[in-house]
Amino acid sequence: AIEQRLDIWTQKYNQLRSELSNNDHVRAIFNLSYHDLPDDLKNCFLYCSLFPEDYHMSRESLVRLWVAEGFVVRKEKNTPEMVAEGNLMELIHRNMLEVVENDELGRVSTCKMHDIVRELAISVAKEERFASADDYATMILVQQDKDVRRLSLCGWKDDTAVKVKLPHLRTVLSLGPTSPCRGMLSSILSESNYLAVLELQDSEITEVPTSIGSMFNLRYIGLRRTKVRSLPDSIENLSNLHTLDIKQTQIEKLPRGVVKIKKLRHLLADRYADEKQAEFRYFIGVQAPKELSNLEELQTLETVESNPDLAEQLKKLMQLRSVWIDNISADDCANLFATLSTMPLLSSLLLSARDAKEALCFEALKPNSTYLHRLITRGQWAKGTLNCPIFLKHGINLKYLAISWCHVGEDPLGMMAPHMPNLTYLRLNNMHSAKTLVLSKDSFPNLKTLVLKHMHDVSELKIVDGALPCIDGLYIVSLSKLNKVPQGIEFLRSLKKLWLLSLHKDFRTQWDTEGMHPKMVHVPELRV
Ligand SMILES: *[C@@H]1O[C@H](CO)[C@@H](O)[C@H](O)[C@H]1NC(C)=O
Ligand SMILES: *[C@@H]1O[C@H](CO)[C@@H](O)[C@H](O)[C@H]1NC(C)=O
Ligand SMILES: *[C@@H]1O[C@H](CO)[C@@H](O)[C@H](O)[C@H]1NC(C)=O
Ligand SMILES: *[C@@H]1O[C@H](CO)[C@@H](O)[C@H](O)[C@H]1NC(C)=O
Ligand SMILES: *[C@@H]1O[C@H](CO)[C@@H](O)[C@H](O)[C@H]1NC(C)=O
Repeated sequence: AIEQRLDIWTQKYNQLRSELSNNDHVRAIFNLSYHDLPDDLKNCFLYCSLFPEDYHMSRESLVRLWVAEGFVVRKEKNTPEMVAEGNLMELIHRNMLEVVENDELGRVSTCKMHDIVRELAISVAKEERFASADDYATMILVQQDKDVRRLSLCGWKDDTAVKVKLPHLRTVLSLGPTSPCRGMLSSILSESNYLAVLELQDSEITEVPTSIGSMFNLRYIGLRRTKVRSLPDSIENLSNLHTLDIKQTQIEKLPRGVVKIKKLRHLLADRYADEKQAEFRYFIGVQAPKELSNLEELQTLETVESNPDLAEQLKKLMQLRSVWIDNISADDCANLFATLSTMPLLSSLLLSARDAKEALCFEALKPNSTYLHRLITRGQWAKGTLNCPIFLKHGINLKYLAISWCHVGEDPLGMMAPHMPNLTYLRLNNMHSAKTLVLSKDSFPNLKTLVLKHMHDVSELKIVDGALPCIDGLYIVSLSKLNKVPQGIEFLRSLKKLWLLSLHKDFRTQWDTEGMHPKMVHVPELRV
């Protein structure tokens, strides 16, 4: 339905654009739509104008930002995050934002603001003390209004040192490779005592000034994909911090005092592995802080390294929705999986062994939470089979499943299919298994994407008519023993993307001589 709405919207827009020689009429229409919004939605909407043109805003970060800004209030039993998500849907419904991508649950994963809408948003936002500056001259202009509340420095392109004196500033957004110099950030931290949101994702910042610890109102720190190597100890004083996003930075260890930030709800951290480790683990978590259990409000914990005490620490963190754990050892797994199994709200889980040989007792994973829909595992299954409660009992709830680096005796597709009717994404990677894989009639009725990669034993794949009725993309890559075209591949009538890459040398010969091409011409993206 969203796609349909978008179609209508695109049509409307094109029509309007061609009919009107200037934008005044369009502006008037959006002005009406804007004034029709409830106040909390107005704030959320205007906020999006701080992002650069055509920027793909992720639902998850928008939600965290709006909550940090105080735009949403808890309604009845709903958390502020749930209310914020509702606001996002409402803005999309009203055509004020457009969906770019959906996720495996059919939720919006990224969205953007149309340029004409954005133009209007910017003009209204000015009255609400939103500003943006990308060089010295505009910054000087901006500073003539001492009441500026929200400042976008996206696309900053000036080396001139500029002191920012904006005492009422609450929000600073600076996304992208060009970024204000260090001195500018320091001046913001010393002049703007009410700062609540500091989003510096992708910027060139390498160090966080110690003075950040005195920003009592700070609720959100975003440093994703910056080159920051450590955080100052002073962040322990940020007692109102909700979100700390240091994903894909070079930070290995959090300051010990991070566990004093009792209100912390989202801790997002990891870094890329170096080349030596990269084959098995392409990203690595941060060390779990001691006394992690103090963070009782925590909803998101991505990604920490396991240790023998982690299971005990997690026992108190029953608000957790997303838990990603790396470096799990065989000794720790029983306690850890038992604790995770008790979390009532768990919805996303990543479990990665310490190395490719470590066998984890996945049979101990029996989640109580029916919300758990996303599971990613990396490492050996101790029993050598996927025949475990997580699939047999819980499989019906799973929508996104990725399993890698394990050695099982069976045909994983045949084993899983009867238990996982709701799966929309399945990825098997680096796996030893039976030689023949069969997708039987009625298997995976909701699956949109199937990835089979580095499956070292598979020499045959059979597809029965009626399997994968709504498959969109099938990616078969590096199956070195697969020497013939999957039998029944022509039954996959909904296929839009088909990749058959790095297979056995006989595969190509058979593909060419048996004339599989004509049967597959309906596939828009075909790569052999
Ligand atoms: C937008 O609408 C409001 C209220 O309806 C009106 O006061 C304002 O002048 C309009 N602005 C523009 C740019 O049309
Ligand atoms: C936290 O704030 C207190 C009081 O201002 C200060 O004495 C202390 O040094 C700060 N902690 C850190 C680690 O900076
Ligand atoms: C990984 O796990 C091992 C064994 O439990 C532990 O000794 C080690 O400290 C962990 N590594 C990190 C970086 O946490
Ligand atoms: C699962 O939930 C039920 C009902 O809330 C509870 O009685 C049971 O103890 C829980 N099991 C675990 C392993 O936490
Ligand atoms: C999974 O699919 C079944 C039918 O195949 C349906 O009854 C059930 O509601 C679905 N569960 C979820 C969590 O979507």
